[in-house]
Amino acid sequence: MDHENKATWTAMEDATQADFEAVADYEADFNAGLVDRLLAQLKQLDEEWTPYPINRYQHSLQSATRAYNDGADEETIVAALLHDIGDVVAPYNHGEVAAAILKPYVSEKTHWVVKHHCVFQGYYYNHYLGGDRNARDKYQDSPYYNDCKYFCHNYDQNAFDPDYDSKSLEFFIPMMRRLFSETAGHMELAERVDDQVA
Ligand SMILES: [Fe+2]
Ligand SMILES: [Fe+2]
Repeated sequence: MDHENKATWTAMEDATQADFEAVADYEADFNAGLVDRLLAQLKQLDEEWTPYPINRYQHSLQSATRAYNDGADEETIVAALLHDIGDVVAPYNHGEVAAAILKPYVSEKTHWVVKHHCVFQGYYYNHYLGGDRNARDKYQDSPYYNDCKYFCHNYDQNAFDPDYDSKSLEFFIPMMRRLFSETAGHMELAERVDDQVA
């Protein structure tokens, strides 16, 4: 699509209907590239050495493969693939980053699980670092408490096995394209982000 017509307004309050229709066309094209940008981001996780048995990229593939092998639904598999994608920019709340990316496209449950997985993962190591391994208990009343516990136990804390037969990234790309190929339109997707419980 040709997007060469540059806006003539300098403040949004001076823009017109036609100006914003042009913006919407451009945004639709740009958003269609989301999966490619996420894939590039994921591959970045492969560039770093970590003291873990496998690096974050391999961990992400293994996490998604474990979800797939467990018969999880497609949005859970993609959530497993992307759950640590925010590590690069938000080391202390990376779950919130992945959850925010997924939010317009997934259920409230999947969003909640990804957002809170860091706290639930703490069950496996907080006590080695002077913290409370039961920090997750503060979420006991959430309807998604057990889902998050299950996700971490079966797809995250155990996804560091160098000998595990993980699928390649290519295997998951069609699932990502299906999940992110939402055609609901800008306003509806934006409202979904507003409407969901945090
Ligand atoms: Fe994580
Ligand atoms: Fe993880």
